[in-house]
Amino acid sequence: MKNILITGGAGFIGSHVVRLFVNSYPNYHIFNLDALTYAGNLENLKDVEQKQNYTFIKGDITDATFINSLFEAHQFDAVIHLAAESHVDRSIKEPLAFVKTNILGTINLLEAFKTIWNHDFSEKRFYHISTDEVYGTLGDTGLFTETTAYNPNSPYSASKASSDHFVRAYGETYGIPYVISNCSNNYGPNQFPEKLIPLFINNIINNKPLPVYGDGNYTRDWLYVIDHARAIDLVFNKGENKETYNIGGFNEWKNIDLVKLLCAQMDKKLGRSLGISEKLITYVKDRPGHDLRYAIDASKIKSELGWQPSVTFEEGLGLTINWYLENKEWLNHVTSGEYQDYYEKQYT
Ligand code: NAD
Ligand code: DAU
Repeated sequence: MKNILITGGAGFIGSHVVRLFVNSYPNYHIFNLDALTYAGNLENLKDVEQKQNYTFIKGDITDATFINSLFEAHQFDAVIHLAAESHVDRSIKEPLAFVKTNILGTINLLEAFKTIWNHDFSEKRFYHISTDEVYGTLGDTGLFTETTAYNPNSPYSASKASSDHFVRAYGETYGIPYVISNCSNNYGPNQFPEKLIPLFINNIINNKPLPVYGDGNYTRDWLYVIDHARAIDLVFNKGENKETYNIGGFNEWKNIDLVKLLCAQMDKKLGRSLGISEKLITYVKDRPGHDLRYAIDASKIKSELGWQPSVTFEEGLGLTINWYLENKEWLNHVTSGEYQDYYEKQYT
């Protein structure tokens, strides 16, 4: 039995990773460490909470004393590190929270891992989950590869870039075996409705304006979250030590085109006449430092590990909309209270 620590497992991507690992690997004991910030939600994991190879621990990665004692107690063989502040707009308003969690929190985990194994790292692995935003922005052409220079533009991406550098530095300096993956925009069930797709689904349900930043001609490369979890499984179990893997959907969309597709699918599912939801589109003030275009070259993970997305965007979007329509209680829980304050401050 291996003890695997997954951080941020109550969040959007983390909950899909926890579910996949708990169900696929009875020989791994999965410890899910999460501070349950506004983005963490144990409702995401109801179906796995009774499993024998699963333990939830509420705790904060920025608390070094707590992290050291946790590693001492459980002697984790591997870490899959997803816990982070993850929303760009929040990072523009409160950059220090991102420095603390994303940089300091990552260093605390690296330090604790280094200390318990004391240079004897055989069969051990530290897997850091990062983002394509560390590469900055593309122009109208080109793709991010694993060797694209880091050039982050937001406090969020700068904090993720810094944490990637620390993981590499701990690998080079102390010999910690690591892998890093940099993924494009995820969408799917359980995503907190501050990010584009779930925010707009929620607003369409409630006939609220759809706030498109700037002219809407920004491009993102979208990947269904379960395909990201499958990629994480492969990189964790088969990826080469000290390697980076880019993960993306081969699926670029301009925001405005994506929003129009979403509106059309929602009209159909809600039984509204075609064109009703599109009328909610409202162009609003742009995000400062808004990256024009992200697009991932995922050929390395495809050719070396045999990964590719399993659903088309239209299918994934349909599954996502269905999930939100079938889980209105989840949506109501996460959009009450604090969410209303956030929404007011961000959009009015
Ligand atoms: P999320 O915001 O949905 O979840 C983050 C989780 O981390 C939450 O459960 C939260 O409670 C937990 N957390 C936050 N601060 C913590 C702390 N101090 N201690 C312990 N737990 C803490 O994020 P997500 O979208 O699921 O992203 C997960 C990871 O994947 C992040 O590292 C993010 O940078 C990366 N990533 C996200 C995307 C995307 O499109 N969402 C794409 C590429 C990479
Ligand atoms: O690329 C990976 C990254 O994708 C992850 O590392 C981040 O954690 C994740 O949040 C996401 O970042 P983005 O900033 O690209 O995602 P977001 O959903 O916030 O925005 C997607 C696009 O939609 C972006 O161009 C901004 C635009 N947008 C977003 C919101 C919330 C709007 O036009 N209106 C909005 O209200």
